[in-house]
Amino acid sequence: MKNFKRYLVTSALPYANGPIHIGHLAGVYIPSDIYTRYLRMKGVDVISVCGSDEHGVPITLKARKEGVSPQEIVDRYHTINKKAFEDFGIAFDIFSRTSNKVHYETASDFFRTLYNKGEFIEKSSEQYFDEEACCFLADRYIMGTCPLCGNENAYGDQCEKCGTSLSPNELIDPHSTISGSKPVLRETLHWYLPLDKYEPWLKKWILEDHKEWKVNVYGQCKSWLDHGLQPRAVSRDLDWGVPVPVEGAKGKVLYVWFDAPIGYISATKELTPDWEKYWKDKETKMVHFIGKDNIVFHCIIFPAMLNAEGTFILPENVPANEFLNLENDKISTSRNWAVWLHEYLEDFPGKQDVLRYSLCANAPETKDNDFTWKDFQARNNNELVAILGNFVNRALVLTNNYYDGKVPARGKTDSNDDAVLKEIARIRENVESSLEAFRFREALKEAMNLARLGNKYLADAEPWKVIKTDPERVKTIMNIALQITANLTIVCEPFLPFSMEKLRGWINFNELKWSEAGKTDLLITGHVINKPGLLFEKIEDEDITKQIDKLLATKKANEAEGAKTAPGKDVITFDDFTKIDIRTATILEAEKVPKTTRLLKLKIDTGLDIRTIVSGIAEYYEPEAIIGKQISVLANLEPRKIKGIESKGMILMAEDKDGKLVMVTPADKVSNGSMIK
Ligand code: MF3
Ligand code: ZN
Repeated sequence: MKNFKRYLVTSALPYANGPIHIGHLAGVYIPSDIYTRYLRMKGVDVISVCGSDEHGVPITLKARKEGVSPQEIVDRYHTINKKAFEDFGIAFDIFSRTSNKVHYETASDFFRTLYNKGEFIEKSSEQYFDEEACCFLADRYIMGTCPLCGNENAYGDQCEKCGTSLSPNELIDPHSTISGSKPVLRETLHWYLPLDKYEPWLKKWILEDHKEWKVNVYGQCKSWLDHGLQPRAVSRDLDWGVPVPVEGAKGKVLYVWFDAPIGYISATKELTPDWEKYWKDKETKMVHFIGKDNIVFHCIIFPAMLNAEGTFILPENVPANEFLNLENDKISTSRNWAVWLHEYLEDFPGKQDVLRYSLCANAPETKDNDFTWKDFQARNNNELVAILGNFVNRALVLTNNYYDGKVPARGKTDSNDDAVLKEIARIRENVESSLEAFRFREALKEAMNLARLGNKYLADAEPWKVIKTDPERVKTIMNIALQITANLTIVCEPFLPFSMEKLRGWINFNELKWSEAGKTDLLITGHVINKPGLLFEKIEDEDITKQIDKLLATKKANEAEGAKTAPGKDVITFDDFTKIDIRTATILEAEKVPKTTRLLKLKIDTGLDIRTIVSGIAEYYEPEAIIGKQISVLANLEPRKIKGIESKGMILMAEDKDGKLVMVTPADKVSNGSMIK
């Protein structure tokens, strides 16, 4: 393994349009914090940078909805999130923001450098324009009917009902959400990064040189690279963001995913005048902590940008995590299905470490994982209280009782003592190698094994009994228990910083050096310790029930919302009705559309012809199961291209109250092409 002179740890810049929840913590910030604390304890040169990602369309949308400026939105959430990180001990060296001056300069310079080197393609394309509001419309500002499921409130980039990603020209009856008018297509000029040009280089850099990356990360990169890369627009027509710093770019800003990762550079600049050594010296190991939805940006696009610029280093590793679910359901801000950090702290004041612990123990490292309150309670009661807290308490209370808090001398050791002392060093090595490999769950488990070892040692040695028969022997036992305790303050520190700080105070021990871990003489004979408090407290059933009830109430409210029967529509004339050509048809073939999760490509016999229709029903129907099924189709809907496939017409679906889509099949078999009227 290569030895690096210094480390640069980055954590995905959270969007400043909402608060942080447990999914963010588990996926990104707890792992990055553990890693950084470990490196600091090793005494290496390391900085950890983060900040708010303050651009992008969702922020402008939220501002519009609330009738305030985007700046007001980002100021609000920047403050909230910065505090939440501090409250949970996420110890960034800097938590910057992308609306500040250093960032504007850094991002503009970066763009200009690439521009001057001729690294961009300039291309005009037609985009939707709102003639009343006089502005181009970002995809999110266009709404219309989803061509796949008929949802009338689909966005230009995605239908949230059926989950399909769309482009605005696929929407039926598009309208601008700013003025309500029908948008028109207009020419606009943009700058593109030709990712295809970097494909061979990326293939070598990732697929050959970074085989050690986590399988989920490597796999996603490989899939992108195998499908072939296309030029990507790095500018947008928008009035919120870093202005494109070249002539003739009025009203255009850098695409948020172009400027945000440059935020890592700006944050470093803001932190230290010596920033270049972190960014321009190959002896620096840069590690990006992110969630899985950020993989392509950090492994492909940003590296391509850095490579094009030419003076910066590349990440050595990108240990992205999968997603955390909450009580078996996807975490969702809009459905309020989340545990927000500030709410947690209100309900469990002072228990930051319990959440840190249960999120790390349950981190979605290799697959999506579930957070449940029952598991949270069990982790606290059965592990933190019963193992770690119990051991530490016994060791400190007995030392206070027997020796007035003075560390007793270790006398002659027996073979069990020796085995235990040896085990301390082995555990440290295990924690270390797991951390180096970004396996944080495993590292935590190993660190807890030290407390398990201590517990077992005391249970077997029974000093509280032996004290009556052989008080000399008890000195040795307690000395060993205290050495384990001191070691715990080091190996558990990255995971449980609040509790370990307390514990260090109780044992008067402040050697926070990783290199000390594994040693068996950390507390010398005669060293005086203090009276301990309780490291962890039991969490009662009613505290957990309260949280579960809160979620149940949310679920009920969401269901009530969704269960409303859709309101009736305006009256139409019979003439209007006769324009609609609905008829029966039979599905001949069905297959999944590659790279999508919800789309099926169907070949159907409409009685008129055999045609292809793309439908967003893959979540509800297996392709094999629907072949031969008779259905109803809207046959004269204007054809549209969906994912490059020409789709002619729409399969009619009944939408259940929970959003589930069900095919509308004639009650008895009829011939294909029968009119439905
Ligand atoms: N704001 C993005 C998100 O929350 C992450 C940006 S990471 C950066 O998904 F690299 F672009 F900064
Ligand atoms: Zn849809």
